[in-house]
Amino acid sequence: MNRRNFFLPLPAALLLWLASSVSFAQQRTVLQLSENWQFSRDSVNWQTVSVPHDWAIEGPFDKKWDLQYVAIEQNGEKEKTEKSGRSGALPWIGKGYYKKSVSLKEKPSSALLQFDGAMSEPTVYVNGKLAGKWAYGYNAFRIDIAPFLKNGNNLISVSLDNREESSRWYPGGGIYRPVELILGGTAMIDEWSTFFYTEQADDACADVVVNTGVRGAIPEKKKLAMEVTLYNNKGRRVTGAYSVIDADGKCRFDLQVKNPLLWSPESPELYTLSTCLYENGALIDCSQSKVGIRTISVSKEHGFQLNGVTRKIKGVCLHHDLGPLGTAVNKAALIRQLRILKDMGCDAIRTAHNMPSTWQMEICDSMGMMVMAESFDMWIYPKCKNGYARFFKEWSDRDIENLVLCHRNHPSIVMWSIGNEIPEQWSEEGREIARRLQDICHRLDPSRPVTQGMDKAEAALKSGFAQVMDVPGFNYRVHKYENNIKQLPKGFLLGSETASTVSSRGVYKFPVTVSDHAVYPDGQCSSYDTEYCSWSNLPDDDWRCQDDYDWVIGEFVWTGFDYLGEPTPYDEYWPSRSSYFGICDLAGLPKDRFYLYRSRWNKNDHTLHLLPYWTWPERKGQVTPVYCYTDYPSAELFVNGVSQGRISKNPAERLDRYRLRWNDVVYEPGELKVVAYDEKGNPAAQKVVKTAGKPARIACKADREHLKADGNDLAFVTVSLTDGDGTLIPYADDQLTFEVSGAGSFKAVCNGDATSLESFTQPTMKLFNGQLVVVIQTMKQKGDILLKVNDKKRRLSTTLSLTAE
Ligand code: GAL
Repeated sequence: MNRRNFFLPLPAALLLWLASSVSFAQQRTVLQLSENWQFSRDSVNWQTVSVPHDWAIEGPFDKKWDLQYVAIEQNGEKEKTEKSGRSGALPWIGKGYYKKSVSLKEKPSSALLQFDGAMSEPTVYVNGKLAGKWAYGYNAFRIDIAPFLKNGNNLISVSLDNREESSRWYPGGGIYRPVELILGGTAMIDEWSTFFYTEQADDACADVVVNTGVRGAIPEKKKLAMEVTLYNNKGRRVTGAYSVIDADGKCRFDLQVKNPLLWSPESPELYTLSTCLYENGALIDCSQSKVGIRTISVSKEHGFQLNGVTRKIKGVCLHHDLGPLGTAVNKAALIRQLRILKDMGCDAIRTAHNMPSTWQMEICDSMGMMVMAESFDMWIYPKCKNGYARFFKEWSDRDIENLVLCHRNHPSIVMWSIGNEIPEQWSEEGREIARRLQDICHRLDPSRPVTQGMDKAEAALKSGFAQVMDVPGFNYRVHKYENNIKQLPKGFLLGSETASTVSSRGVYKFPVTVSDHAVYPDGQCSSYDTEYCSWSNLPDDDWRCQDDYDWVIGEFVWTGFDYLGEPTPYDEYWPSRSSYFGICDLAGLPKDRFYLYRSRWNKNDHTLHLLPYWTWPERKGQVTPVYCYTDYPSAELFVNGVSQGRISKNPAERLDRYRLRWNDVVYEPGELKVVAYDEKGNPAAQKVVKTAGKPARIACKADREHLKADGNDLAFVTVSLTDGDGTLIPYADDQLTFEVSGAGSFKAVCNGDATSLESFTQPTMKLFNGQLVVVIQTMKQKGDILLKVNDKKRRLSTTLSLTAE
């Protein structure tokens, strides 16, 4: 739900005045506490920062941060070894302090301070008094700070404490998600009590329910009433109702919507729900949120259904960091991620392994992306020394409650997940915890199924842990699916985590081998997409199950993008500090695997992609296999016009069912060409890859050229070194420098190399296999932004112009 609440749009001047000194009237005021925070690591030296903020992303990278001597049990390790880079090799451990002053003209009757997440163990003080705290760094929480506020200046302080070995990936550090202060009268609409959901819907009519409630004291003898109104995307009222509020401060509306526009990834139709609170007929509070009408169900007969239509989930898992931006959440970066995923044909994400940010959910609502919203990576039994196991007993109910209450109005969320690879899968105690957590979800949200990802299929089926779940989710081990389903009366299962195939963009290893333990001296993995882990598999193995078994309802691939930390298979190798699992690299550039998934998932556009690149001066005369990722069933390959044969996909072979492979091609420089044939055998498309000539140009391409002059918008500029014809120099590792001038500033840079220790926040970096991505941030002023890229070694430079409007 969009929790920005405005009764009336406020002119900018008034907003500014409000931000500097708030005079509190009856209706709510929402203050976004984003600018002018003071931040310190030692409570002595302070600097001014904006929130969202990740204190660790500037680095420096160092092996010493969170250096661990452990056995990773999930990976089947028995012996302890040194693990560097497991949580990103960035300085996120330790304490951090934030403070901000908020000026109020009057003491408000109610004041909710709402954090979307703060890493971690946030303790909040207002005017020097302890106002509240939360334990889990990944969850939203809110604190009633009205008793601590006064007229005039108020000081909000937040202390954070990050212990080492607390996550199995990079958690980041700081107030990394937005904070808002909601001020209002004695009685206010409680947005976490507002719950909009669809009971039944088809194209003709939808039955929807709105539950809502009031916070604060219900004034005696004064009548409170609530009015809800639903508006369509043209701002026209489609339904609404008015009701007096019960003694318990709650009310329920059962409404009908004629000819509803149903939400789906393909058509993300949203409505606006307006909720207004009246006291003796006078309006005292108003709140608006975006909602969607859609149904979801899962059954043995029909599998997963959205709006009554069966579909297999084409999902990816995502960790919460945004590569070189760290964990500080940013809308433009999230939108870019979703654009890339949607182009691949992906229709769902799993927020591994914790609660999503509200911005991310709003963007999934509006762009059309289904979500499995997850919560925990462990319960009582710790997976790492200082993980959530320290808090589970005391906090888990509240954490699940906040997850559901904060996010249940997002139509994009189609299921909740109560855990990932929980070690207690084998036990009765585990089974009962699963039941308890699932029951909390059901109590707060009867409209969605609950799942979790299990990795110990036999144990989970034996203890009944798997059977408890609305949606039994299994991580990897596809060869066990057939046995699992026999023991699942529900008659379906989900690939809650799949593949964990590893690759590095633009790296190809010879000879090509299929391996579950390949490592190389350079700390990279091959992009032939034939390498995975001892517990995992290749995309092709998942697709066999998805295609051959109706009872597999979809998958969530590990992972959509590379993330900081968990550099498997190089957990023990230094330097390596980010993952290899991504379909896209850490900079968001597609690896070859992107086109493999696209060839299967994107049903709107054809895919025809060749690999590897064709510039191999040292491989003349050597066998250099060529793979083609395409949705077409067959193709013919030519090297300098000489046919290498026309081949078709072959369902009988593991690697030939979904790929076209020419394994015996001998490299000679020149031109690689593929001609694809459609089902009828007609030539349908072709693609040419050429050997690169001499490096001649720096090419820059921005994901967007027109940006918002709001101080937060970002452009992601892909920088490539090419020859005179625009062919990528695929091995280039030139050191580039960047200068940004005009109405924007340099924000970050990333080349996707997991072994790079260059800072993301300094305006210089080496190309990795010919490419990198520069991130530019707008200011609050309109105008042109110029990015100048210099390659000193080759005396090349180029300038790209963008506009902030
Ligand atoms: C899974 C786990 C993920 C990640 C992945 C790597 O078992 O759930 O968090 O560690 O393995 O393959």
